[in-house]
Order: sequence, then C-alpha cells, then structure tokens
Amino acid sequence: MSATADLVIRGGIVVSADGAYRADVAIKDGVIAAVGAPEAMPAVRETLDATGMHVLPGAIDVHVHFRDPGYPHKEDWASGTAAAAFGGVTTVFDMPNTIPAAGNAEILAVKHRIAAEKAHVDFGLYGLLGEDTIANVPALIDAGVIGFKLYMGNTFGKIPSPSTGGMLEAFEVVAPTGKRIGLHAETNSIMERRQTRLTAAGRTDPLAHLASRPAVVAVEAVSRACILSEWTGARIHILHISSADELRPLREAKARGVDVTGETCPQYLMLSSDDYARFGGIIRVNPPVREKSNQEPLWAALIDGTVDMIATDHAPHTPEEKTRNDIWSVDCGFPGVETQMPAMLTAVNEGRMAVCDYVRWSSFNPAKHWGLYPRKGAIQPGSDADIAVVDLARSWTIDDARIQSRSKISPWHGRAVKGLPIHTLVRGRFAMRDRTLIAETRGWGRSVHTIQEMPKAEPRNTDKTMSAIVRKPDANRKEHAA
Ligand code: DOR
Ligand code: ZN
Repeated sequence: MSATADLVIRGGIVVSADGAYRADVAIKDGVIAAVGAPEAMPAVRETLDATGMHVLPGAIDVHVHFRDPGYPHKEDWASGTAAAAFGGVTTVFDMPNTIPAAGNAEILAVKHRIAAEKAHVDFGLYGLLGEDTIANVPALIDAGVIGFKLYMGNTFGKIPSPSTGGMLEAFEVVAPTGKRIGLHAETNSIMERRQTRLTAAGRTDPLAHLASRPAVVAVEAVSRACILSEWTGARIHILHISSADELRPLREAKARGVDVTGETCPQYLMLSSDDYARFGGIIRVNPPVREKSNQEPLWAALIDGTVDMIATDHAPHTPEEKTRNDIWSVDCGFPGVETQMPAMLTAVNEGRMAVCDYVRWSSFNPAKHWGLYPRKGAIQPGSDADIAVVDLARSWTIDDARIQSRSKISPWHGRAVKGLPIHTLVRGRFAMRDRTLIAETRGWGRSVHTIQEMPKAEPRNTDKTMSAIVRKPDANRKEHAA
C-alpha cells in the first residue's frame, strides 16, 4: 500500500464477531485501510499504542432517548452523544418521543438539523408510527428515518398506542418499504387496568410498578406483533426484552421465518426485583426490571441467538423526577449508553461470554439487522473506522456525578465494573481520547440512513391490505359479474 495512512492503532487485539487476534489497524480518510501485521501497515502520520488493549468495532446502540428537542434539562444531542463516546458507542438510534414527537417529515428535518449540529457520534432517527401518522410514512422515509417506532403501550411521553387495527395497517404500509419497525411491546389495556386497580387500592410503592406490568403484558404484545409481522411481511424489532416468558413467542416466530429481531438491556440482565427496595423510583423503567429468575434465560437467549443484540434504552431524567414518593409520578427510565460497555465487559471478565460474543451483540448484529453492515459493525478494510479501544483490565466504579449524561441518577451508581473504553473513534476521529471528550467533534456525527441498505422487502397478503381493498372498486365489480 502506498498512500500514507492517518492513524495506525498498534499492538492491540482486534475483535470481530467470531474471533480475536493480534493485529494493527490502519485508518485513512475515516475508513479502515488495512488490518494485519505491523510490517503490512502503510506509512503513517500518527500511531496509537494499544498494547494490552482490545480493539472493538464501536457499539451500535439502537435504542436511546436523547430528548432533543423538548427536554433540554434531561439531555440533548451534545450531552447524549458525549455519553455515547465515553461508552464506546459510535452509532445511536434516537427514539421519537421528543417534543414534538418525530411523526412527520418537518419535525424529522428539525431533529436532523439539531443532531447534525451537536452529535459527537453517528446516529439514526426513528419515525413515529402511530394511528395518526400512517399516512406520513413515505414522507418520513424521504426525510431520512432509520426505521419506525410503534408504542403498543404507554410510557414516557404519553404517546397513544394504536389499536390492533391501526397497527395492522401501519405494518401493511411499512412492509413494502423494507424498513424495520421497533416495538415497545407492552399491551396497554392490561397495564392500564391494573394500574387503575393498584392506585385505587392505595399502592404507591415501587413494586406496584412491577405488579402493574407482569410479563404477560410483554408476552401478549410480542405474540401479537409477530402475528401481524408474519401476515404483512413487515420487519420488526422487539425492544427491551425483559422477561423469560416473551422468549417463547419470539423463538416460535423466528422458527416460522418471521423477520423479527430482539434486543435486551443490561438492566434486565443485571438488576432484579430484589433491587426495588434499595433504589425506589430510580429503578422505575418500562418494561420493569423483573424477578431474578428472568436473568439466566435472557443470557441464554443472547448466547443462542434468540435475542440478537444489546441496547440500552438510555432514558435520562433528573434526580427530582426520579425520587418522588408516589411511584406513579416518577418518570420512567434511566441513563445507560455510557455504562453498557463497561457493564457487559465485566461479564466478559467474569467468563460469562467471550469478547467476540459481546461484539456480535453490541455491534455486528445491530449493523447487520439494520442494514449498516459492513460499513458499520466490523473492523475490516473498507469499513468506517468506528472503534472502541478498551482496556479489559481497567477497573472503575460508576459514579453518576461524573458521567457525561445530563441525568445524574441511575441504578448503576456505585457499581464496580472491569473493562473500560479508553478511546473512541468515529469515522477515524477521536471523539473520546484517554477518557477525555474531544470537544471539536461536536457536529461530526452524521445520519447513517444514507448508508442503510435493507434487504429486498417481502410484503405479504398485499391483495388484502387496506389500500388494496379500498382502492379497487372496479376490479371487485368485475369479479362479482364474472
Ligand atoms: O422507561 C422508559 N423510558 N421506557 C420507555 O419506553 C421510554 C423511556 C423514556 O423515554 O423515558
Ligand atoms: Zn425506550
């Protein structure tokens, strides 16, 4: 190779989804130019010594809430993506429950502008798929969504959940576009009814939140979503899988060939109902952190591929919003984009999985299932130089006061972890170096919808869609006459 590279990362162990090996990595113009032995590296302007470190493809967190526009006291694109950079996360997908919600092309354009101006890492934006936004799907796609988000149940932002009829029509409309629909899979009517009863009975304690949303809430929603996906051919993604019970409908749907993927989050693997007494409202999140018996099945589902990826549902709120006495008045969610990698690498250190398993769940699979592979999700020539250089031996105690997120309160506070991202590169530029934010990368983040290539769409039952049945009066008449 003749051209001079911009940077060579020397002496580290490069990790892919299926292996880890000693190699140097050369980067030029934001792209990986070479991976291999030191003598195979081109001439270079700068080197980074990664001796003793692991060189991972940056994590792709397909589920964050950066609150911008709408809730600047909780987070914005600058603070949220700074947190991502500190967490070794190089691409984030932002949820549509901002103010206003991202349900039409105009609002999406506003979000694109804000994110492009402030983001330290790359990003995708979800469009809101609700009863009233179905007609906006084509315009939202033109405006550059990475996918859609549909709320089957109520959560922060009080976005109304569509009826099953509305959901079917929404799936019919999205199916031929090939885009994936992320689902908040909790059935609203079940939990609303239970919350009303619990409130009437005077329950305001933290565990009442869990009692209002037992796993059947997710089982019913996942099952129904998979049925509608199978019928329409719409690609779906089950967000924040929290229970062992919802794994069965997910497994069965996958076995039937439904294009459904799933994510779980560190809180469902590492926290449990035993922690409610200690954390109170701080642990309140939707879906709720559940009984400890769910943890092992969720880990096993990651290992066997039923659950495809790790995301965080990074959902920042302020201490005041998280510590109210009445659990029903506590805002749901807590930050996680910055602590996911250390928490998961701790599990690697504990021997629960190999570091390449972690890369498969945190980067390779998200890239693959969201149409970004191999530009993202791999360290190989031609891929974007999105890299987390991690020290697996570095111990750290999570301290909410010192994290980048504006939300300084979480159940991760005080947790001892081992394995820390030391440098994060986004398309070849350090966004975080030696645990320091590189302020000049504000505005470096770009929307990845432009590089997304989903496989060819495979819509089904297209002769029975809402648009087919209401648009063909002549054809119907002929059939009847014949
Ligand atoms: O706990 C949650 N918080 N769950 C969600 O689904 C939304 C999120 C938020 O936006 O705060
Ligand atoms: Zn969420």
